[in-house]
This record gives sequence, structure tokens and C-alpha cells, in this order.
Amino acid sequence: MREVKVQLFGFGNVGRAVARVLLEKERFFREKYGVEFRVVSIADTTGTVWLPEGIDLREALLVKETFGKLSAWTNDYEVYSFSPAEIVKEVEADVVIDVTNDRGAYEWHMKALNEGKAVVTSNKPPLAFHYAELIGEAERKGLPYLFEATVMAGTPVIGLLRENLLGDSMKRIKAVLNATTTFILSRMEQGIDFDGAVKQAQELGIAERDPSGDVLGIDAGYKATILHCVAFKPITFDEISVKGIAEVTVDEVKRALSKGKRIRLVATVEDGNVRVAPEEVSGPLAVSSNENVAVVESDLLGELLIKGAGAGLKETASGVVSDLVKASLRLRE
Ligand code: HSE
Repeated sequence: MREVKVQLFGFGNVGRAVARVLLEKERFFREKYGVEFRVVSIADTTGTVWLPEGIDLREALLVKETFGKLSAWTNDYEVYSFSPAEIVKEVEADVVIDVTNDRGAYEWHMKALNEGKAVVTSNKPPLAFHYAELIGEAERKGLPYLFEATVMAGTPVIGLLRENLLGDSMKRIKAVLNATTTFILSRMEQGIDFDGAVKQAQELGIAERDPSGDVLGIDAGYKATILHCVAFKPITFDEISVKGIAEVTVDEVKRALSKGKRIRLVATVEDGNVRVAPEEVSGPLAVSSNENVAVVESDLLGELLIKGAGAGLKETASGVVSDLVKASLRLRE
């Protein structure tokens, strides 16, 4: 049995979903992979707890869900409010998991790699702005740097491009990568105006309180940038073209429907050229609900379709935990 020490950054909805999987499937990981995960620190904007022998995840979940903050938990645990970089430096661990929305996380991802730790992230900006530096550093150190959950949640499009099709030259990827905009556009197809559809998405917990990252296409743009880096070569978000759905009208949506088409926020990823914009589509890109889809075109295999959940808590945890297992098995090699 190999014990793998984990630092968890982010204990919001996704962080807690990851903790629940680690807790509920403890036996599965032991029996299937011979690994035992020990979470030695948990940090979010409400506090930091750390215990070298491993934190009781059941208690951590209870504290956060009862009091709304990690700092409420003082029994037996030391509670800190250090910066992520300090926690990464001070706490001994094998793998750092980032499920935060910290736009400045690049700094502490680099720190983690410098400290000899593998990184697993669902946080997109570090990769959308610093892919080359992060992957370069991970390769220099011989450490896993894994990011399946940054694009299409647990649907393994990153694994597909990074670990398969290695003899193929990519031609193009066309994809719908944002579930919130798909939801809004689907509601507009029913005659609800843009603002009303955004409001419904917020009420159902699909869109965030500030939905601008989704509706302006920034979230899809981050994801398309990451796909380009993996399928072709490093590029940054600043180099791509992004147009969101804020100007799409109910009339346009209905006109598309009358032609048997649907308007979706589509990412087109070609070598050196990434754009995100609303397009009239039919066929596989005309998804509804929570699903994301990517049509990958390469020289040898031709066209390949990958479709599945693109958002959701356990669906995102699926990608994060899969990467955690992968990192643990690689560290053992
Ligand atoms: N907000 C994203 C979406 C999910 O609506 O697809 C996280 O990537």
C-alpha cells in the first residue's frame, strides 16, 4: 500500500465534492490501485487547516457545511491564514490539488513544482496564460502536472489529446465547451429573453452570481486556449479571439431554429488560430443541457466525437480524482 499525501486548495462546492469522493471511495482506491490518500492540508478563503497525520475529511465537511468557514474548526487542528505559496512550501506532501478560482495560482503551481510536488488542477487561468512555463517546469522536474478537469469537467478530452492520438497531426477541433451558455440559449429557444434566461440559470445554480465569465465567452476561451496548447502548441488567452452570447437575440435564436439549426457558443481551434463565437450549428454541436462536445479532426483517424458532462460537481470531481490517481501511480514508477 502506498500512502499519498495530498494538499487540497479550494473547499467550495468542487473541493467538497472531491473530498466526498476520497472519503466514500477510500476502499476502492486501496483495492484497485493500492493507494491510500491522506489529505494533510485544506485551504480556502475561509481558512487553512493542516495536520501531518491526515485530516478527518468527514469532520472537515461537517465544519464547513455547518459554520460556512474552515476557521471555525480549532479542536486538535492548527488553523492558519497563510498564503497558498506558504502552505505549499511549509507542508510536506506529494500532490497539490487546485480547485480554486484563484487567477494568481500560477505562482504557487510553480512553487509546488519547485518543491517537488505533482499538481492536479481544475483552475483554468494558470494554463490559459502560462501553459509553456508550467509544462516546461513539470518536465524539468519530472513531475506530473495534470489538468483534465479544466476542459469538459471529467469528460476526458485532455487525456485523449495528451495521451492518445500521439501519431496524429491535428487539423481542427470544433467544440461547445460552456454549459451555462448552452442552457441560456436553450431557454431563449423557448422564447425567454436573454436576461430572463440568465436569471433562470442563476436560480438553478448553473450560472454564477456574476455570470460574465460564461456569457462573455471567457470561460470557453480559457478552455479553447488550453485545447490549442495540448493539440498544437502553446498559446495564451491574450492571443485568441472571443465573442460571447450577450448580443444574441431571441429573434436570431428562433430564426436559426426555423432553419433546423441552433445557435451555440462554438470554439474553433486550429493551428495558431483560436476563436470563440456564437454560431448556427446542426448535428453533433447542437447540444442541449449540461453536455459539452468536441469534434476532433486529425490526419490519420479522421473525425472523432467526444461528448459528455461539461460541468457539475461530481462530474468535475471525476476529472480531478482521475488525475490524482494518475499522478499517484506515476510518482510510484
Ligand atoms: N461555468 C462552466 C460552464 C463550468 O458553464 O460550463 C466550469 O468550467
